[in-house]
Amino acid sequence: MATLSKAYTETPLHLQHIIPIDFDSVKEVPQSHSWPQSDDESTRRMFNLDGDHFSIPAIDLDSPDAIEMAGHACKIMGIFQVTNHGIPSSLLREVESQAWRFFTLPARAKVKALRSPSGATGYGVARIAPFFNKFMWHEGFTMMGSPLEHAREVWPHGYRKFCEVMEDYQDKMKALSERLLAMILKYLGISEHDIDWPRLRSNACAALQLNSYPRCPDPRQAMGLAPHTDTFLLTILHQNHSAHGLQVHMEGRGWVPVFPMNGALVVNLGDMLHIMSNAMFPSVVHRVIPSEKRHRLTVGYFYGPPTDFHVGPIHGLTQSSGREDAARFRSVTVKDYVQMKAKNLDKALSMIRIR
Ligand code: OGA
Ligand code: NI
Repeated sequence: MATLSKAYTETPLHLQHIIPIDFDSVKEVPQSHSWPQSDDESTRRMFNLDGDHFSIPAIDLDSPDAIEMAGHACKIMGIFQVTNHGIPSSLLREVESQAWRFFTLPARAKVKALRSPSGATGYGVARIAPFFNKFMWHEGFTMMGSPLEHAREVWPHGYRKFCEVMEDYQDKMKALSERLLAMILKYLGISEHDIDWPRLRSNACAALQLNSYPRCPDPRQAMGLAPHTDTFLLTILHQNHSAHGLQVHMEGRGWVPVFPMNGALVVNLGDMLHIMSNAMFPSVVHRVIPSEKRHRLTVGYFYGPPTDFHVGPIHGLTQSSGREDAARFRSVTVKDYVQMKAKNLDKALSMIRIR
């Protein structure tokens, strides 16, 4: 965990790229947060939310077909939802309520947990902020393991519950990530030996991210989270069920909403599975549009291999004859890829592409 934070320390940020505005104090969208829109965008993106009936597949993890369905969803979309995932609904409610407890604090209290310019954890704007000239309608809180240090600053006498819930949630998310990854490998016909699974598991890198998208006076101008792909192997996202806003980009369809489904968790693949699958699985581009009516809250868990792990197309997928199967990416360490992404965002993948 500590080593993942280290991978970020080499790209320090300016304070303006750390401190969110005080959303409670703004009555309209300031210039700094107003994104230019194409004609198509301004009207369509709002109405699309009800008009498009396309939905992301939901997979019951207890079903005998779960592996086949998950693998298929990885291949055609890179995103799906899971039910019967084994995460108690009471824990999901608790993590949400602790997240609310933090985000509903006044701005001056939240900055006590501010991420440091060279740090990876704590309160602040999205990591991708420096790549855009407008700010996002978003504030986040990142954890890697125990959030004790930050929580103690915020609640000198009331940090325990927050820490307990966040640690418990990370443990359970790790187990679920391992289960999902094992299913995906099985679908690919890859043995655990082929990717040094024991080492991958023993020291996996992970981060937990609480996301808050406050109510926005004019969502047509604002961007909750700008389009991006996730860096690691996979992301498990819990959305509070009353507020939609997540959209994925699908070729030929444009932006498609991912409606929250009660009790389901969203799973999307990241760049590293795209690389390891030799581009068989897409790393799905997604974004968030804020809402005028509801404050949206999500909890994302990002799961990746240890920082010194080499990420490259899995041998078993590239060794068969035919040019089609030749490796499309060179292999890089997790640490190098995290740094390439932190410096180059969406260009990182093309920097390691070889064909
Ligand atoms: C992320 C992300 C989506 C959401 O944190 O990387 O894409 O709906 N979040 O909060
Ligand atoms: Ni994301």
